[in-house]
Amino acid sequence: MAASVLVLNGPNLNLLGDRDPDTYGTASLASIETALADAFPAVTFDFRQSNGEGALIDHLHRAHDEGVDGVVFNPGGYTHTSVALRDAVDAIDPPVVEVHLSNVHAREDFRRTSRIAPVCVGQLGGFGPTGYHLAVRALLAHDGAR
Ligand code: DQA
Repeated sequence: MAASVLVLNGPNLNLLGDRDPDTYGTASLASIETALADAFPAVTFDFRQSNGEGALIDHLHRAHDEGVDGVVFNPGGYTHTSVALRDAVDAIDPPVVEVHLSNVHAREDFRRTSRIAPVCVGQLGGFGPTGYHLAVRALLAHDGAR
């Protein structure tokens, strides 16, 4: 199925591969993106990463304006704090799947709360880079409900 998907990664995820490999693994963000593109040749991907909340919001708005079919979003630490990102996800039409490399529910208490998941189609975490693949599959199978 032809589809367009924005894969959006938030703060510090540009450091994947170097950053706390016991928690986040050894794959770089670039290698995760390449593997996704290889796994879903029929999907047109837009891969974006930003450390800034405003830039992430701008990417979400652009996905809406461009009519992309879905968004895979790892908001990093903003997951647990950002009302503005939640509002942006809530405001846009494309369905959003929240992804985390680590199992945020098995870590510190503050990571158990996501401000963003309630306005997403769903949340995936704990599967490492495979979570991004599962999120794309979920978007391709999504029927519009959230
Ligand atoms: C993360 C989990 C967040 O709690 C953390 O702040 C991150 C990465 C993950 O992918 O597991 O930066 O989103």
